[in-house]
Amino acid sequence: MRRVVLAGVGMLSVAALVGLGATLAKPVADERVASVEHLMEGISKPHCSALGKLLKAGPSSERDWKHVKLHAALLNELSYMLLQDGRCPDATWAKAAQQLRSASAEVFKAASSQDTSTARAAFKKVTASCATCHKVHRK
Ligand code: HEC
Repeated sequence: MRRVVLAGVGMLSVAALVGLGATLAKPVADERVASVEHLMEGISKPHCSALGKLLKAGPSSERDWKHVKLHAALLNELSYMLLQDGRCPDATWAKAAQQLRSASAEVFKAASSQDTSTARAAFKKVTASCATCHKVHRK
């Protein structure tokens, strides 16, 4: 009898947690309005092209390196956003987002030691990640 009651309580709290999860998650999803196009126009494009320009010229001041880090960090955040809220449709997308994440983190780390050649090599992997996803998902 006691067991049955305990199991019942257990099931009720699981139901309560699931219910709570649903009510907490729903408004957040409703208020998260960015489309993939917004993320691409607003984050991918400006940060990738600014980073490319800086690395091509060769960062030559603390300010330049600070900006290399800034652009790499934003591209890194983007890699998380691309996998959230049901944005990820398949394994190619997931793989590209993961490539973007590790490559942008490599650029960031290279900027910490002001290592231009490593940053440039890692940036090539960043643009490769764009291509991996676009080949399949950009119409
Ligand atoms: C995981 C997938 C994915 C990755 C990674 C990705 N993109 Fe995209 N990108 C897309 C999709 C999907 C579209 C088409 C969006 C649409 O128009 O609805 C797109 C469109 C774009 C566009 C056109 C936006 C417009 O006006 O429609 C640009 C610019 C762009 N991406 C830049 C980049 C750059 C630069 C990178 C790498 C730093 C990148 N993307 C990485 C999926 C990705």
